[in-house]
Amino acid sequence: MSPVGINTTPLLVELSAQELRRRMAEALAIYVEAMDYPKGTEFHRAPMWTEHTHRPGWRAVAAVLPDDAGSGEGTMVGIAYGYRGAPHQWWHQQVREGMHRSGADERRIHEVLGDYFELTELHVARAAQGHRTGEALLRRLLEDRPEGHVLLSTPEVDDEDNRAWRLYRRLGFTDVVRHFTFTGDNRPFAVLGRLLPLAAEGTENTHSPSR
Ligand SMILES: CC(C)(COP(=O)(O)OP(=O)(O)OC[C@H]1O[C@@H](n2cnc3c(N)ncnc32)[C@H](O)[C@@H]1OP(=O)(O)O)[C@@H](O)C(=O)NCCC(=O)NCCS
Repeated sequence: MSPVGINTTPLLVELSAQELRRRMAEALAIYVEAMDYPKGTEFHRAPMWTEHTHRPGWRAVAAVLPDDAGSGEGTMVGIAYGYRGAPHQWWHQQVREGMHRSGADERRIHEVLGDYFELTELHVARAAQGHRTGEALLRRLLEDRPEGHVLLSTPEVDDEDNRAWRLYRRLGFTDVVRHFTFTGDNRPFAVLGRLLPLAAEGTENTHSPSR
Protein backbone atom coordinates (compact mmCIF):
# COMPACT_ATOMS: atom_id res chain seq x y z
CA MET A 1 0.00 0.00 0.00
CA SER A 2 1.28 3.44 -0.81
CA PRO A 3 1.49 5.90 2.08
CA VAL A 4 -1.34 8.36 2.52
CA GLY A 5 -0.06 11.58 0.98
CA ILE A 6 -1.84 14.79 1.81
CA ASN A 7 -0.50 16.47 -1.31
CA THR A 8 -2.13 14.05 -3.69
CA THR A 9 -5.69 14.79 -4.72
CA PRO A 10 -7.79 11.66 -4.24
CA LEU A 11 -10.08 10.44 -7.00
CA LEU A 12 -13.73 9.73 -6.27
CA VAL A 13 -15.07 6.35 -7.28
CA GLU A 14 -18.53 4.97 -6.84
CA LEU A 15 -18.38 1.50 -5.26
CA SER A 16 -20.85 -1.25 -6.04
CA ALA A 17 -22.17 -3.24 -3.07
CA GLN A 18 -19.89 -6.06 -4.09
CA GLU A 19 -16.86 -3.74 -4.22
CA LEU A 20 -17.52 -2.29 -0.79
CA ARG A 21 -17.97 -5.76 0.66
CA ARG A 22 -14.64 -6.77 -0.85
CA ARG A 23 -12.90 -3.62 0.45
CA MET A 24 -14.73 -3.61 3.79
CA ALA A 25 -11.59 -3.91 5.93
CA GLU A 26 -10.02 -0.90 4.22
CA ALA A 27 -13.19 1.20 4.58
CA LEU A 28 -13.68 0.24 8.22
CA ALA A 29 -10.05 1.04 9.05
CA ILE A 30 -10.70 4.62 7.87
CA TYR A 31 -13.86 4.79 9.95
CA VAL A 32 -12.18 3.53 13.14
CA GLU A 33 -9.22 5.87 12.76
CA ALA A 34 -11.24 8.95 11.77
CA MET A 35 -13.74 8.49 14.61
CA ASP A 36 -11.00 7.51 17.06
CA TYR A 37 -12.85 4.34 18.02
CA PRO A 38 -11.04 1.54 19.82
CA LYS A 39 -9.39 -1.10 17.67
CA GLY A 40 -11.77 -3.98 17.21
CA THR A 41 -14.78 -1.75 16.55
CA GLU A 42 -14.52 -2.72 12.90
CA PHE A 43 -15.46 -6.31 13.70
CA HIS A 44 -18.76 -5.20 15.23
CA ARG A 45 -19.52 -2.83 12.38
CA ALA A 46 -18.72 -5.11 9.46
CA PRO A 47 -21.98 -7.10 9.58
CA MET A 48 -24.01 -3.89 9.83
CA TRP A 49 -22.25 -2.16 6.92
CA THR A 50 -22.68 -5.36 4.91
CA GLU A 51 -26.39 -5.52 5.71
CA HIS A 52 -26.77 -1.88 4.68
CA THR A 53 -25.48 -2.67 1.18
CA HIS A 54 -28.73 -4.58 0.56
CA ARG A 55 -31.00 -1.65 1.42
CA PRO A 56 -33.00 0.10 -1.30
CA GLY A 57 -31.32 3.20 -2.66
CA TRP A 58 -27.91 2.27 -1.22
CA ARG A 59 -24.97 4.13 -2.73
CA ALA A 60 -21.29 4.38 -1.73
CA VAL A 61 -18.46 6.62 -2.89
CA ALA A 62 -14.79 6.18 -1.99
CA ALA A 63 -11.87 8.59 -2.26
CA VAL A 64 -8.77 6.79 -3.47
CA LEU A 65 -5.23 7.93 -4.08
CA PRO A 66 -4.17 7.51 -7.69
CA ASP A 67 -2.15 4.34 -7.96
CA ASP A 68 1.43 5.11 -9.04
CA ALA A 69 1.80 1.81 -10.83
CA GLY A 70 -1.49 2.37 -12.63
CA SER A 71 -2.47 -1.25 -12.17
CA GLY A 72 -4.09 -1.51 -8.74
CA GLU A 73 -7.15 0.28 -7.40
CA GLY A 74 -5.31 2.80 -5.22
CA THR A 75 -5.36 3.27 -1.46
CA MET A 76 -8.72 4.26 -0.03
CA VAL A 77 -8.56 7.47 2.05
CA GLY A 78 -12.26 8.29 2.35
CA ILE A 79 -15.60 6.51 2.39
CA ALA A 80 -19.19 7.71 2.32
CA TYR A 81 -22.41 5.76 1.97
CA GLY A 82 -26.11 5.97 2.61
CA TYR A 83 -29.50 4.67 1.48
CA ARG A 84 -33.13 5.58 1.29
CA GLY A 85 -34.74 5.95 4.71
CA ALA A 86 -37.83 3.86 5.54
CA PRO A 87 -40.19 3.55 8.52
CA HIS A 88 -39.15 0.00 9.49
CA GLN A 89 -35.51 1.07 9.97
CA TRP A 90 -34.16 1.51 13.50
CA TRP A 91 -32.57 4.89 12.76
CA HIS A 92 -35.81 6.20 11.24
CA GLN A 93 -37.76 5.15 14.34
CA GLN A 94 -35.21 6.73 16.64
CA VAL A 95 -35.27 10.04 14.78
CA ARG A 96 -39.08 9.98 14.69
CA GLU A 97 -39.06 9.56 18.49
CA GLY A 98 -36.49 12.35 18.86
CA MET A 99 -38.54 14.72 16.70
CA HIS A 100 -41.68 13.83 18.59
CA ARG A 101 -40.01 14.47 21.96
CA SER A 102 -38.64 17.79 20.77
CA GLY A 103 -42.14 18.97 19.89
CA ALA A 104 -42.44 18.37 16.14
CA ASP A 105 -46.01 17.60 15.03
CA GLU A 106 -47.01 14.72 12.73
CA ARG A 107 -47.18 16.94 9.66
CA ARG A 108 -43.64 18.09 10.23
CA ILE A 109 -42.40 14.57 11.00
CA HIS A 110 -43.96 13.29 7.81
CA GLU A 111 -42.51 16.15 5.82
CA VAL A 112 -38.98 15.30 6.96
CA LEU A 113 -39.11 11.51 7.35
CA GLY A 114 -41.46 10.81 4.45
CA ASP A 115 -38.83 11.12 1.74
CA TYR A 116 -35.16 11.20 2.69
CA PHE A 117 -31.73 9.81 1.99
CA GLU A 118 -29.85 8.78 5.12
CA LEU A 119 -26.21 9.81 4.97
CA THR A 120 -25.07 6.91 7.11
CA GLU A 121 -21.28 7.21 7.07
CA LEU A 122 -18.77 9.84 5.93
CA HIS A 123 -15.13 9.51 6.92
CA VAL A 124 -11.78 10.69 5.66
CA ALA A 125 -8.44 9.30 6.92
CA ARG A 126 -6.79 11.81 9.27
CA ALA A 127 -3.77 12.40 7.06
CA ALA A 128 -6.05 13.25 4.14
CA GLN A 129 -8.44 15.57 6.00
CA GLY A 130 -8.66 19.32 5.46
CA HIS A 131 -8.52 19.19 1.66
CA ARG A 132 -12.23 19.19 0.96
CA THR A 133 -12.31 15.48 0.28
CA GLY A 134 -15.18 15.12 2.74
CA GLU A 135 -17.12 17.77 0.86
CA ALA A 136 -16.39 16.12 -2.49
CA LEU A 137 -17.53 12.71 -1.19
CA LEU A 138 -20.70 14.18 0.20
CA ARG A 139 -21.50 16.05 -3.00
CA ARG A 140 -20.95 12.97 -5.16
CA LEU A 141 -23.03 10.80 -2.86
CA LEU A 142 -25.95 13.23 -3.03
CA GLU A 143 -25.79 13.85 -6.78
CA ASP A 144 -29.05 13.08 -8.62
CA ARG A 145 -30.73 11.52 -5.63
CA PRO A 146 -34.47 11.03 -6.06
CA GLU A 147 -35.22 11.88 -2.39
CA GLY A 148 -36.35 15.32 -1.29
CA HIS A 149 -34.24 15.48 1.87
CA VAL A 150 -30.96 14.25 3.29
CA LEU A 151 -30.57 13.48 6.99
CA LEU A 152 -27.57 12.50 9.09
CA SER A 153 -26.55 12.22 12.72
CA THR A 154 -23.28 13.43 14.18
CA PRO A 155 -21.96 13.58 17.76
CA GLU A 156 -22.55 16.88 19.56
CA VAL A 157 -19.30 18.78 20.16
CA ASP A 158 -18.70 22.04 22.03
CA ASP A 159 -19.35 25.07 19.85
CA GLU A 160 -19.87 22.76 16.84
CA ASP A 161 -16.10 22.98 16.60
CA ASN A 162 -14.94 20.11 14.42
CA ARG A 163 -14.59 19.43 10.71
CA ALA A 164 -17.79 17.45 10.44
CA TRP A 165 -19.86 20.26 11.91
CA ARG A 166 -18.14 22.92 9.82
CA LEU A 167 -18.67 20.87 6.68
CA TYR A 168 -22.37 20.26 7.35
CA ARG A 169 -23.08 23.86 8.29
CA ARG A 170 -21.18 25.13 5.26
CA LEU A 171 -23.36 22.94 3.06
CA GLY A 172 -26.57 24.24 4.59
CA PHE A 173 -27.53 21.45 7.01
CA THR A 174 -29.69 22.69 9.87
CA ASP A 175 -31.06 21.20 13.07
CA VAL A 176 -33.71 18.50 13.03
CA VAL A 177 -33.10 17.17 16.57
CA ARG A 178 -30.38 18.27 18.99
CA HIS A 179 -28.82 16.52 21.98
CA PHE A 180 -30.50 13.24 21.19
CA THR A 181 -29.35 9.96 22.70
CA PHE A 182 -29.91 6.95 20.49
CA THR A 183 -30.87 3.76 22.30
CA GLY A 184 -27.71 1.95 23.36
CA ASP A 185 -25.37 4.96 23.12
CA ASN A 186 -24.95 7.51 25.93
CA ARG A 187 -23.42 10.19 23.77
CA PRO A 188 -25.59 13.10 22.64
CA PHE A 189 -26.05 13.37 18.88
CA ALA A 190 -27.47 15.97 16.58
CA VAL A 191 -29.68 15.00 13.67
CA LEU A 192 -29.15 17.47 10.84
CA GLY A 193 -30.84 17.75 7.49
CA ARG A 194 -31.50 19.77 4.42
CA LEU A 195 -33.49 19.70 1.25
CA LEU A 196 -32.10 18.12 -1.89
CA PRO A 197 -30.65 18.85 -4.32
CA LEU A 198 -27.51 20.52 -3.05
CA ALA A 199 -26.64 23.67 -4.93
CA ALA A 200 -23.57 23.64 -7.15
CA GLU A 201 -20.21 24.15 -5.42
CA GLY A 202 -19.65 27.73 -4.30
CA THR A 203 -23.36 28.61 -4.45
CA GLU A 204 -24.62 26.72 -1.39
CA ASN A 205 -28.28 27.20 -0.77
CA THR A 206 -29.46 26.78 2.78
CA HIS A 207 -32.90 25.24 2.43
CA SER A 208 -33.42 22.62 5.05
CA PRO A 209 -36.18 20.39 6.30
CA SER A 210 -36.20 22.24 9.59
CA ARG A 211 -37.27 25.49 8.01
C1 LIG B 1 -15.88 15.10 8.67
C2 LIG B 1 -14.89 14.72 7.59
C3 LIG B 1 -15.47 13.57 6.77
C4 LIG B 1 -14.66 15.92 6.68
O1 LIG B 1 -13.70 15.58 5.71
P1 LIG B 1 -12.56 16.64 5.31
O2 LIG B 1 -12.02 16.22 4.01
O3 LIG B 1 -11.61 16.79 6.44
O4 LIG B 1 -13.46 17.93 5.28
P2 LIG B 1 -13.74 19.10 4.23
O5 LIG B 1 -13.98 18.57 2.88
O6 LIG B 1 -14.82 19.96 4.73
O7 LIG B 1 -12.51 19.89 4.39
C5 LIG B 1 -12.44 20.75 5.51
C6 LIG B 1 -11.35 21.67 5.27
O8 LIG B 1 -11.35 22.13 3.93
C7 LIG B 1 -10.90 23.47 3.95
N1 LIG B 1 -11.93 24.25 3.29
C8 LIG B 1 -13.26 24.14 3.46
N2 LIG B 1 -13.90 25.03 2.70
C9 LIG B 1 -12.96 25.70 2.06
C10 LIG B 1 -12.99 26.76 1.12
N3 LIG B 1 -14.16 27.30 0.71
N4 LIG B 1 -11.82 27.19 0.65
C11 LIG B 1 -10.67 26.65 1.06
N5 LIG B 1 -10.58 25.66 1.95
C12 LIG B 1 -11.71 25.19 2.43
C13 LIG B 1 -10.72 23.88 5.36
O9 LIG B 1 -9.36 23.78 5.68
C14 LIG B 1 -11.51 22.85 6.11
O10 LIG B 1 -10.96 22.53 7.34
P3 LIG B 1 -11.62 23.17 8.64
O11 LIG B 1 -13.12 22.95 8.55
O12 LIG B 1 -11.02 22.40 9.73
O13 LIG B 1 -11.25 24.61 8.60
C15 LIG B 1 -13.53 14.29 8.19
O14 LIG B 1 -12.96 15.39 8.82
C16 LIG B 1 -13.64 13.14 9.14
O15 LIG B 1 -13.61 11.98 8.72
N6 LIG B 1 -13.77 13.42 10.45
C17 LIG B 1 -13.79 12.43 11.46
C18 LIG B 1 -14.96 11.50 11.33
C19 LIG B 1 -16.25 12.26 11.36
O16 LIG B 1 -16.48 13.11 12.20
N7 LIG B 1 -17.15 11.88 10.43
C20 LIG B 1 -18.45 12.42 10.38
C21 LIG B 1 -19.27 11.72 11.38
S1 LIG B 1 -20.94 12.19 11.21
